[in-house]
Amino acid sequence: MAVTNLDGEYDLILYGLGVMGENFIRNFARNGYRVIGVNRTVAVTEKFAAQVAEEDIARQVGTAETLVEACQHLKSPGGAVLAMIKANDPVIEPWGGIDDLFFRGSIARYGEQEQKDVPPLVDLVPEGTVIIDAANSHPRSTRQRCAEFARRNILFIGTGVSGGSEGALKGPCIMPGGSKEAYAPVSQMLESAAAQVDGSCCTYIGDNEAGHFVKNVHNGIEYGIMQAIAEAYYALAHLLDLAPADIQPIFAEMTAGRHGGYLMEISTLILGMVDSESGKPMLDVILDRAGQKGTGKWTSQIAFDLGVPVPTVAAALQARIMSAYKPEREAAAQKLAGRLAGRFAAEDRERLIEATADALYGTMVAAYAQGFWLMREASLADPEDSNGSYDFTLQLDEIARIWKGGCIIRSQLLDPIREAHQEDPDLHNIMLAPQFSRTLEDEQFQTNWRWWVRTMAGLGLPRDAMGASLLFFDTYRTARLPANMIQAQRDCFGEHGFERVDKDGKGFHLSPAG
Ligand code: 6PG
Repeated sequence: MAVTNLDGEYDLILYGLGVMGENFIRNFARNGYRVIGVNRTVAVTEKFAAQVAEEDIARQVGTAETLVEACQHLKSPGGAVLAMIKANDPVIEPWGGIDDLFFRGSIARYGEQEQKDVPPLVDLVPEGTVIIDAANSHPRSTRQRCAEFARRNILFIGTGVSGGSEGALKGPCIMPGGSKEAYAPVSQMLESAAAQVDGSCCTYIGDNEAGHFVKNVHNGIEYGIMQAIAEAYYALAHLLDLAPADIQPIFAEMTAGRHGGYLMEISTLILGMVDSESGKPMLDVILDRAGQKGTGKWTSQIAFDLGVPVPTVAAALQARIMSAYKPEREAAAQKLAGRLAGRFAAEDRERLIEATADALYGTMVAAYAQGFWLMREASLADPEDSNGSYDFTLQLDEIARIWKGGCIIRSQLLDPIREAHQEDPDLHNIMLAPQFSRTLEDEQFQTNWRWWVRTMAGLGLPRDAMGASLLFFDTYRTARLPANMIQAQRDCFGEHGFERVDKDGKGFHLSPAG
């Protein structure tokens, strides 16, 4: 099968034939678009060409050895090039990846050795082409790219895409940011490719880095909920001495209720999986060392820079970092005995199941609350104060709507979140909305959540996200915190000054009598 097999004009070039890229091509083709697939490693393109030749979309999908041929067959104006490759941060990794593809020139690799230098996309695309970065790019990188493309008068969209390979095929959630002028020519193509729940799960997010900013927030919420689910499974497994398959019905019941969502669905499935090699439960053969490609870390860093509390996200990130020190933890387990203060008795079985469900739900609410707080804060940020970043305004109810389908954090909570923001466009925290405050204030719910965290603490068991979220809830609803002591300490050693409760103004200092 020849690698380059193009005939006539195409609407879109998709560069990056990973599993998501290939499936995204199938998605666009099924929606009536003509698409060219290109990849850095030509053998991958060749393999894809052979596969797609056998599929019903064959006439709509071409492949090209390099971007040079592909761009010669791209319709103009109104054609688009979508890059779906690993994100790189030009500040941290100035070479390689997207910026070579866009601005410096990339390569076409033949086998291990031979490679051909391909001119940069900015020199190849015909007039009026829209270039789309669909990687998990850092918002700061996207902001820089928006400026560079604007300087070159080339239309550019930085878009988050969520839903993995299945989402790319069946309909992901797509979060495009950039100028409205750049979005207009590709809006129909992207909105038809997205999941369709309450309308298209793709909508224009905002200017510049808005799309990748929202995708980053999405991933922070994802980290928090994933960690909470892991802690729920762990508590049931260890305290009830249950095998994963015995936990599955408990998870299935939660998934059928207000905890329902994609992450709960896949976690319920995972509990029932058996390893084909060993015949053991899949979870029992997976090493407890979590990976991360960086998005949850970026969310935490961005939140710290904006002064927004994201303890559930940060706790989930820390939990992944701690899990990476597997040998060290194994050694420490031999040296550091836990002086357990708690107890768990057989008669607490039903209580643990109920409390786990409540702690998990409370943590899910906290994770979304922190994500929407972060997006609200970015919308309100003054671009002057944030070195030009965040000069966009996010429609939080619309973001809740498009997250209802296709994305990893789609769940039962998004309808009430959307409703809460429609009822109060200035909502500061979803925990204040009646859709959630009614539950959070419920005496049994809170008693269960607190009992769960206390029990895990007493037994020295993982409670990173569930504990941090309870603390987030309690701190948020505490009118007077111990920060007065912090201010006194800071003034004592640094004369930083403080405010007083009994008079306006700042810059007061310790003036101990006597
Ligand atoms: C999505 C996922 C996806 C995720 C990667 C890496 O929305 O489809 O968020 O983009 O970022 O699977 O995830 P990690 O950061 O956990 O490595």
